[in-house]
Amino acid sequence: MAAPAPAPSSARRALVVYGSETGTAQDVAEELGRIAARLRFDTEVAELDAIGLNQLLQHSVVLISISTTGQGELPANSQKFWRALRSARLRPGCLHQLRFASFGLGDTSYPKFNWAHRKLYNRLTQLGARPICDRGESDEQHPEGVDGSFLPWSTTLRHRLLEQYPLPEGTEPIPDDVLLEPKWLLDFVDDNRQHREAESDKVVQNDAEEVPPDNLLDIPGGLTASIASNDRVTPTSHWQDVRQLNLDVSDYHPYIPGDVLTIYPKNFPTDVNELLSVMKWTSVADIPLRFTPSSPATLPTSRLPIPHFTSTTTLTLRTLLTNHLDIMSIPRRSFFAQLAHFTSDEFQKQRLLEFTDPEYIDELYDYTSRPRRSILEVLQEFETVKIPWQRLCSIIPTVRGRQFSIASALDPAAEAKKQTRIELLIAIVKYKTVIKRIRQGVCTRYVASLRPGQRITVTLQKGGLGVTKKETERPVVMVGPGTGIAPMRALTYQRKFWREESQHKDIGARDMLFFGCRNAESDYYFKDEWAQLQKEGIPLDVFVAFSRDQREKVYVQDLVRQQSARVYEALAKRDGIVYICGSSGRMPQAIREALIEAFQSHGNLDRTAAEAYLAAMEKSGRYKQETW
Ligand SMILES: Cc1cc2nc3c(=O)[nH]c(=O)nc-3n(C[C@H](O)[C@H](O)[C@H](O)COP(=O)(O)OP(=O)(O)OC[C@H]3O[C@@H](n4cnc5c(N)ncnc54)[C@H](O)[C@@H]3O)c2cc1C
Ligand SMILES: NC(=O)c1ccc[n+]([C@@H]2O[C@H](COP(=O)([O-])OP(=O)(O)OC[C@H]3O[C@@H](n4cnc5c(N)ncnc54)[C@H](OP(=O)(O)O)[C@@H]3O)[C@@H](O)[C@H]2O)c1
Ligand SMILES: Cc1cc2nc3c(=O)[nH]c(=O)nc-3n(C[C@H](O)[C@H](O)[C@H](O)COP(=O)(O)O)c2cc1C
Repeated sequence: MAAPAPAPSSARRALVVYGSETGTAQDVAEELGRIAARLRFDTEVAELDAIGLNQLLQHSVVLISISTTGQGELPANSQKFWRALRSARLRPGCLHQLRFASFGLGDTSYPKFNWAHRKLYNRLTQLGARPICDRGESDEQHPEGVDGSFLPWSTTLRHRLLEQYPLPEGTEPIPDDVLLEPKWLLDFVDDNRQHREAESDKVVQNDAEEVPPDNLLDIPGGLTASIASNDRVTPTSHWQDVRQLNLDVSDYHPYIPGDVLTIYPKNFPTDVNELLSVMKWTSVADIPLRFTPSSPATLPTSRLPIPHFTSTTTLTLRTLLTNHLDIMSIPRRSFFAQLAHFTSDEFQKQRLLEFTDPEYIDELYDYTSRPRRSILEVLQEFETVKIPWQRLCSIIPTVRGRQFSIASALDPAAEAKKQTRIELLIAIVKYKTVIKRIRQGVCTRYVASLRPGQRITVTLQKGGLGVTKKETERPVVMVGPGTGIAPMRALTYQRKFWREESQHKDIGARDMLFFGCRNAESDYYFKDEWAQLQKEGIPLDVFVAFSRDQREKVYVQDLVRQQSARVYEALAKRDGIVYICGSSGRMPQAIREALIEAFQSHGNLDRTAAEAYLAAMEKSGRYKQETW
């Protein structure tokens, strides 16, 4: 492949690109876009797979935001770009004209911390691209989240951009108190508004249902799934509502353990109506709208606020607020900066601006993240703020689908039956905050409302566990506390099906499953199934840590320590594989520690050699983690 063509002009243009699996890196990219726009760069934001290598050189500067997923991999929407960038035909130095800055999002509880970012950064510099500042990286485990490192890094980036791309004499950056014009605005589809406004009032009055509407969503790659059952698997006396959600998708859609199903949440009518009322939008809530360019400078190819929409898509404020905008999410700093433009109340304006000041990071945290205050609540509290509905999509972020690990294995007869059954284990998020308010998870609240027979739109994605049929010749050590048991159940059944298919002989080693829950009586998921599988002769041993059945906490890592001789035998002597799934946080690191200790004591290794052994397992794909 020839080197990408150089930039045609020296115009002040910034390209912001992102690779994101669940939307956080995309939020960071939007923020980078605003920083560049304020420095008067003509700015485009796009996902990495939407651009070609040539486009990198057609901009003065490229700003990158990328998360790491799977086992140190790049997100799905950057894989195509990554393949092009890795092409052996690209000559060293071919990107020497590219100036860039990059920010990675990762989690130190994963062994390959920020690997996607580091791989991308290294490849770009190997091809001659020159960074304009040190790369930045965030850690999900940081108490202040992404902002903990993004804020200082983006301040440095802004200085570097101003130094290296100075503005012409007499031109200043666009100050924070000046509103940036979005590329797209909402507008009425036709001018026949009065008639429609009257109609819309009727719709509002009738709209008294308590659950979100059950119309299907138009999502690229979407499948229609019918809810077969939605059963609570914990007793009603237990504080945590956990559901086994079974879905049927027509036709054959093969999947393997580790694959995930994405469910797209909808907001509840009471919340949507409340927001419409607070903003005084009720009379226009049901009038057909579409996106129109805010100025002739907006290219028709420019990304719309709702990615799969086009400028001919018709929608209403109510459908936007119900299906597409995350009105129940915790607002980001930039949200407050935007709101400040839409109030004439000086006191509220000052208070909103305080939240945007990096010096008041603690105040912002105390007001938003700690009590988990939602966008809707902020708008209720700052009641003088009235957002023009035309700008709605540039102020409220889009709602993201939530991924759930598939808990079932594909029935070998599914292809013939032309139907795919998918089972999920979902913990319904509901808790009290420090300000004693009850909060509910956006998606799991919706999941709890789903009724048998209802149809929803879902997407099916490859997961990062990389399970293969060949692995049935080796034992596995599975660690899956809480809902982390979901992919382990899938793996256990899949191994059973694969073994039956290939009429495997006994490999002389048993699989080990470490499960952790609170009480034997409340959340020991699939207890009867494990016993049944063992009765059928499946070589599986189950070790359960009940954390709250006795005074002392007992966790999965304690049981791994107790079973360390067997764990060592399975992994070191029989080339076994470790799978770790469930809540991120301290559990994965604690398991890692327990394994290192097992290698030390049973393999007679010192600490460094035991760590090296684990690192070698990771490298060869024998240590796999998927935590959330
Ligand atoms: C690859 C993958 C697989 C997954 N598999 C599963 C699965 O099999 N089963 C499953 O249940 N989930 C799974 N998840 C998690 C799932 O995607 C959602 O994140 C989860 O269901 C919450 O979504 P929500 O929209 O209901 O909550 P949100 O509205 O997104 O709120 C969640 C947030 O609420 C906060 N929160 C939750 N509980 C508390 C608390 N007690 N106190 C204070 N704050 C709290 C946390 O900050 C949390 O991030 C998986 C995630 C990934 C990435
Ligand atoms: N209020 C709470 O107590 C609380 C805490 C976290 C999550 N949640 C909710 O639970 C939902 C998902 O939870 P889940 O059921 O999948 O499982 P989970 O919260 O991960 O809990 C599963 C088991 O893991 C234990 N555990 C906690 N910390 C651990 C650690 N460092 N190492 C090993 N094990 C540890 C838990 O014990 P203990 O809980 O007894 O410590 C529990 O027995 C979340 O969405 C959230 O809403 C609630
Ligand atoms: C399934 C899964 C796998 C992950 N793998 C890694 C990893 O290997 N290394 C890492 O540093 N972070 C890893 N993370 C953490 C994410 O990079 C981090 O949560 C990030 O903020 C997600 O950004 P996104 O929403 O833009 O995808 C993983 C997260 C999930 C849910």
